[in-house]
Amino acid sequence: ANKNINAKLVLLGDVGAGKSSLVLRFVKGQFIEFQESTIGAAFFSQTLAVNDATVKFEIWDTAGQERYHSLAPMYYRGAAAAVIVYDISNQGLPCFPTGQKASFERAKKWVQELQAQGNPNMVMALAGNKADLLDARKVAAEATQVYAQENGLFFMETSAKTATNVNDIFYEIAKRLSQV
Ligand code: GTP
Ligand code: MG
Repeated sequence: ANKNINAKLVLLGDVGAGKSSLVLRFVKGQFIEFQESTIGAAFFSQTLAVNDATVKFEIWDTAGQERYHSLAPMYYRGAAAAVIVYDISNQGLPCFPTGQKASFERAKKWVQELQAQGNPNMVMALAGNKADLLDARKVAAEATQVYAQENGLFFMETSAKTATNVNDIFYEIAKRLSQV
């Protein structure tokens, strides 16, 4: 039997991590070098066929700027899946002037918040984005893999720019959603 699944999916992560770029790559197959920072949130949808199911993603691309943090629960409430995005090239110093911690630290905070407040069955993916910037790497994949395993997330390094692992991460989420 063919299952039709509607799945609310939310992207969370630091400013500039590449949430909008991942969605744009996944939904439209495009990449913009000077992608504008998201205001509030943006909505997209995309359908994937996996095994015996058709998964229609209803995607909320949230804004990473700290001033929008209080809106986030609206977008992750009732979500079947979340993609938490960080930038592998962003190092561990607080950013001036927001005082916001670096990208990976911010991602861990989102994981904590989802574990505390989110849907307990939520499929959570961790995307180490900008994997094309290998020379600028600041976050090691090995340590992240351990962190992901300990926290029940699955982890992939992605590049919205080159498209590496972008369809794959959404496909893996769709697969997991179709199995429950
Ligand atoms: P907010 O909306 O402000 O929260 O940011 P965001 O997470 O949506 O980031 P966005 O997609 O706007 O990307 C920020 C910048 O990083 C843009 O200039 C993108 O072109 C760039 N960028 C995004 N993904 C990649 C990537 O995989 N590789 C490289 N090299 N640059 C990327
Ligand atoms: Mg954005």
